[in-house]
Amino acid sequence: MTGVGIDAIEIRTGKLALDLAETFAPAMDEAPEKYTKGLGVRSSSLPDVYEDIVTMGANAARRLLERKGLELDDIGRIDVATESAFDNSKPVSTYIAGCLEGVFEGDLHHANKGERKFACISGTQSIDDAYNWIQAGRNRGRAALVIATDMALYARDDPGEATQGAGAVAMLIDTDPAIVELSKEQGYGSADETDFLKPNQQFPSVDGKRSVQVYLARMREALTDYESVAGDVRPEDFRYVPFHTPFPGMVKKAAMLTYRHMIRDTEIEDELASEIGRQPREEAFEDEEAFREAVREYMDALKSTDRYTEWYDRTIAPTIELAGQVGNWYTGSVHVARASALAHAAENDEDVTGKHLLVGSYGSGAQAEGHAETVQAGWRAEIDALDIDDQLEARYDLDFAEGTSTRDTHFFAARVSSLAWFKRREAPFVITKRLRRFERLLSVALAVGTARRKNLFSRVKRARAGSGR
Ligand code: HMG
Repeated sequence: MTGVGIDAIEIRTGKLALDLAETFAPAMDEAPEKYTKGLGVRSSSLPDVYEDIVTMGANAARRLLERKGLELDDIGRIDVATESAFDNSKPVSTYIAGCLEGVFEGDLHHANKGERKFACISGTQSIDDAYNWIQAGRNRGRAALVIATDMALYARDDPGEATQGAGAVAMLIDTDPAIVELSKEQGYGSADETDFLKPNQQFPSVDGKRSVQVYLARMREALTDYESVAGDVRPEDFRYVPFHTPFPGMVKKAAMLTYRHMIRDTEIEDELASEIGRQPREEAFEDEEAFREAVREYMDALKSTDRYTEWYDRTIAPTIELAGQVGNWYTGSVHVARASALAHAAENDEDVTGKHLLVGSYGSGAQAEGHAETVQAGWRAEIDALDIDDQLEARYDLDFAEGTSTRDTHFFAARVSSLAWFKRREAPFVITKRLRRFERLLSVALAVGTARRKNLFSRVKRARAGSGR
């Protein structure tokens, strides 16, 4: 069998934008630099009132299938990764499949559908599932559709509010992929952690500072575990290193940790020794705090070396460009980072075919995973086909009060129509109704202007009858 990997990718951003420096910072009475420099996020994408994880995912999947000239019969599996699901039983993939059946010929009755949960890492886990399904020869010549879709919204005044975001990434996993081939080797760092939880509640409960430490600890374990199967990793091995990006400042920390690990006991460490000394070794210290302090000092010094900044600018900075404009998309975030890096290569007319990526995924709860990818010959055409720049340009710029009301509409309003100031239904799939069933809001996504509309309306009627409204 030829290699398996990502053959196509589509990105749909939420259609609203909240400017963190200009709009959010003044409302929070904070310096804009905290957002632009500290966290590294300039603006967040938020979902308009007629958007949700279903509509964003379905719109991404629809464009992907159309662009690739695929039929529903070509898809044998649909996995949705999300931590914004609204049903503990019926998976989001069934809603998305229903939307696609509304606009394409045929149906997806033959397709295996599911929903993956492990915080942000479940997007990568869904790719793994698809990879294994294809490698096992169970796909009958069909490809898998993986959709990472999330509304990463936080409660008012939660420190996480600054890292909000919403969007979907749809990916086609297939043999002989156009974009990247996945390595067989993987490394894991996994432990029972409770720093970020959503126990049947709309907004996460987060211990933000601890979550940063847990991310770094699990990422370090994953890197070491990856090396145990793939051999030592060195800075020059990888053209880009995309990480899960809750906010770019987090990636700066992860990059520093990874670089320090990669250069230990190498000629790079030796060459830097005259400038900043050698890395502290734990065995040379009697107490842990003294060791940690020495590591902090070494990292501070390393950060300012030309050697590190050149590596960072070349390998890491391109991966966080997009995240800085859209915020955290949870399950989609590391896939946004990969796309951001490849878009950077395309903009600079650099041919990265055959080059390697080291991809660091992460999910709270907590687990990190690392694997390598090899860029394939078709990457450029696929990345050139993305229209994310146009989507970003077209976003509606929210003022602070509009941002708060929009979020409240998503979680607390029974009817979209009464609060839908921004409604612009140019996307094929939009929410048109919310039904209250069993104390839950059930959004119904309609494919605007399609023949199935009538059919869907009768479904709405049936659902309404079932709920007694
Ligand atoms: P905070 O208390 O608002 O911010 O919380 P801060 O005071 O720590 O400042 C943030 C950074 O800005 C700091 O940089 C400041 O120094 C700097 P650092 O010291 O860390 O390098 N700063 C400034 N820089 C320049 N000029 C200024 C200025 N002021 C401050 N004037 C926190 C930050 C991340 C805790 C918060 O946003 C939060 O709780 N976020 C949500 C949790 C999160 O994203 N955690 C990340 C790791 S966990 C993860 O990635 C998983 C996740 O995606 C979920 C999942 O897997 O499902 C979240």
